[in-house]
Amino acid sequence: PQYTIGYIVGSISSTSLNRKLAKALAALAPAGVELVEITIKDLPFYSPDHDGDYPQVARDFKQAIADVDGVIIVTPEYSRSIPGVLKNALDWASRPYGQGSFDGKPTAVIGTSGGAISTAAAQQHLKAILSHYNAPTLGQPEGYIQAVPGLFGDDGEVSNEGTAAFLRAYLDAFVALIDRYVDVTASDES
Ligand code: FNR
Repeated sequence: PQYTIGYIVGSISSTSLNRKLAKALAALAPAGVELVEITIKDLPFYSPDHDGDYPQVARDFKQAIADVDGVIIVTPEYSRSIPGVLKNALDWASRPYGQGSFDGKPTAVIGTSGGAISTAAAQQHLKAILSHYNAPTLGQPEGYIQAVPGLFGDDGEVSNEGTAAFLRAYLDAFVALIDRYVDVTASDES
């Protein structure tokens, strides 16, 4: 593929709506773009005690981010912020000091909940964290998806064509963001 985009689901719920949204994004990816999951559920709690010798699971997590051209974080909102499991994963990615996995990595944020403002508050917190990491982050369109029953199937189906069209446009905008950063790298080398 032209680009491989990793996605992180900020929920470890076995019935996660956000996982269904992520699968819908994967199914709607444009030609030449492949979406692959970067899992967080096996990461232990981060502690600076690990900085000298990261466990293999955390090395694999950081390598998975390094291996992709961009990362989409698909997350629920917990108490107007991001779930602890996601923050824990981001803490692992941010260290050891000076080796942050998101430095310069194109990122995009999206999420779904039943609430009228969807996951907007969580996404604002997440964008502040990604800014601190020096990760370029997609500004528009904003991925606030209000879940209604039956909108997403288990295998990437989207029952509402308007939502599917929005998700395609969202992916196209993220690919255009990745293009900008790839071009910068290419001109640096010429
Ligand atoms: C929630 N939920 C929620 N929804 C929301 O829109 N804003 C919020 O602040 C919260 N807070 C919150 C806290 C906790 C601890 C839970 C368990 C849930 C509801 C949440 O959006 C809903 O459970 C989603 O289905 C969670 O996403 P996944 O796990 O289905 O992807």
